[in-house]
Amino acid sequence: MPDEKDDTVLQAGDAGYWDAYYARASGPGLPSQFATFVAGELDRHHRIVEFGCGNGRDAMFFAAQGHQVVGIDAAEPAIKRCHENAQSLGHDADFVAARIDDPELADKVPPADGATVVYARFFLHAITEQEERAFFRCARALTKPGDLMAVEFRTTRDRTGEKVTERHFRRFLEPVTFQLDAFEHGFRTTYSVEGFGFAKYKQDDAHVARCLLVRQG
Ligand SMILES: C[S@@+](CC[C@H](N)C(=O)[O-])C[C@H]1O[C@@H](n2cnc3c(N)ncnc32)[C@H](O)[C@@H]1O
Repeated sequence: MPDEKDDTVLQAGDAGYWDAYYARASGPGLPSQFATFVAGELDRHHRIVEFGCGNGRDAMFFAAQGHQVVGIDAAEPAIKRCHENAQSLGHDADFVAARIDDPELADKVPPADGATVVYARFFLHAITEQEERAFFRCARALTKPGDLMAVEFRTTRDRTGEKVTERHFRRFLEPVTFQLDAFEHGFRTTYSVEGFGFAKYKQDDAHVARCLLVRQG
């Protein structure tokens, strides 16, 4: 992700912001530390549905590991770039340009060959509370009992930390509140950890939570 210095904080729902951001950004680059952690937890190939896939760096990584990948993002330039990169790398990956609150989003996701992982890294804090509820509804529509969810997000402790990209809209989530909300939507937390050092990027050592959850019946 490119650096930028501008202290105007963008609001959620400003579609043009992320479009312009990815129009400037270069290739997918390295996967996140979180993606490699999640890949290590999977003992077989899954359909990985990534919400807020951005430039597709984690989606491309999962596809290279042999998973069936579907990346979703509201930013059309990012999705266009993901299509091009997947094609040139020969990956079997689908990408959908859509907002999380699109009521037909679940129907736009290709069906699973096997079990599903709903994956969202640095997405939940980039959307509003209302959109988070849409995320849970869509995650539920896309999963069966026993399927997984893997999320990483900035916690409330990160509110005052230094950011490389000050202009991104951000919420800061309380991990316990997230887990309770997830439980109400049928996802039980099986692993949770939080701290610094998991997602360090230049001077931004975000305080994040990582949660793995399983879909209940
Ligand atoms: C902080 S970036 C994270 C990108 C990627 N997951 C990563 O870790 O590099 C948040 C992403 O969420 C997307 N996004 C923000 N609001 C959205 C919404 N309402 N619906 C779908 N995507 C959205 C943005 O376009 C952006 O790509």
